[in-house]
Amino acid sequence: MKPAAITSLFLSCCSAAARAAAVSASNHELRIPTSYESAILGRRILALTPLGTISTVFPADKNDDDLSEQENRPSGLGGMPYGLMEYVADCEDDDLGNPTILAITIGTTFKNVAAGSNVSLAVQWTPPHPPAKRIESNAKRSWFSYLGLSSNGDEEVEEQYHKRTHYHRIALPYSAANLPRFSLIGHLEPIEGGDDRKGEVGSKLAKCFVKSHPDAKYWLPGNRIHESHFVRLAVEQIYWVGGFGDRAFIGWIPVEEWQNVTREEWQKVRLPGEKKGWKEWSAPGDL
Ligand SMILES: *[C@@H]1O[C@H](CO)[C@@H](O)[C@H](O)[C@H]1NC(C)=O
Ligand SMILES: *[C@@H]1O[C@H](CO)[C@@H](O)[C@H](O)[C@H]1NC(C)=O
Repeated sequence: MKPAAITSLFLSCCSAAARAAAVSASNHELRIPTSYESAILGRRILALTPLGTISTVFPADKNDDDLSEQENRPSGLGGMPYGLMEYVADCEDDDLGNPTILAITIGTTFKNVAAGSNVSLAVQWTPPHPPAKRIESNAKRSWFSYLGLSSNGDEEVEEQYHKRTHYHRIALPYSAANLPRFSLIGHLEPIEGGDDRKGEVGSKLAKCFVKSHPDAKYWLPGNRIHESHFVRLAVEQIYWVGGFGDRAFIGWIPVEEWQNVTREEWQKVRLPGEKKGWKEWSAPGDL
């Protein structure tokens, strides 16, 4: 895209304050990262982020569906999407950027997969430190309003809510729209030897997964409570939104690029907010 096109795209979406800041930022040189550079950032996010939202699709209704009997599933869900937070990790030695997931057989996500669903995994970057310098906003908004529950003038309800819950009127400490997020699209497949905790592959996977998720030690493969299996999300497509389009790449990352990123490459880069004292309007990470 030409800079003018990018600027107009950006201007059409944002507040006057954001526009002013964008103009002042554009006096410094802004270079939009390539899809490969974005893949490097994405692989780092995957390595550092233990949670994601996995979406699947419910199978068509069947009268003899004993699953729906077991969980009292309503009818009419066939073809509907279903997204839920799941634990993820990046544990495989091949370093191809296929997330590692501990599939619990009775989980709805994994029932949908067993019934043939493909999956997408949505991951967002959450900075460990708030920015030292923020994008200005005129409106002081509360968490409440982010939940879509407030307050077009209904201050009283909001006030009572805050009294009850001791919540304070705080906004998100950073601009989430300005930060990278992505969706990995593909299918789940078993990892050979992954469930054998005495074997080399299985013991390594368990160790790595529990490092990100200490509580998951209770439902590792072979536990006595739930049937579980280590699976990989075999990534087929990647959609990336690096932040605002005047400074970040937005679009599809070729899967070969995603897989080509080396550990050395993603270990070298830094994401926005990994270091203290960052400015929200600076470039999307140190490449
Ligand atoms: C899953 O995706 C593949 C393409 O990768 C497609 O061929 C298949 O039909 C999809 N499965 C379902 C159940 O939609
Ligand atoms: C991936 O890496 C291989 C080997 O270095 C290279 O030949 C290929 O062009 C790369 N592909 C992409 C899409 O980056």
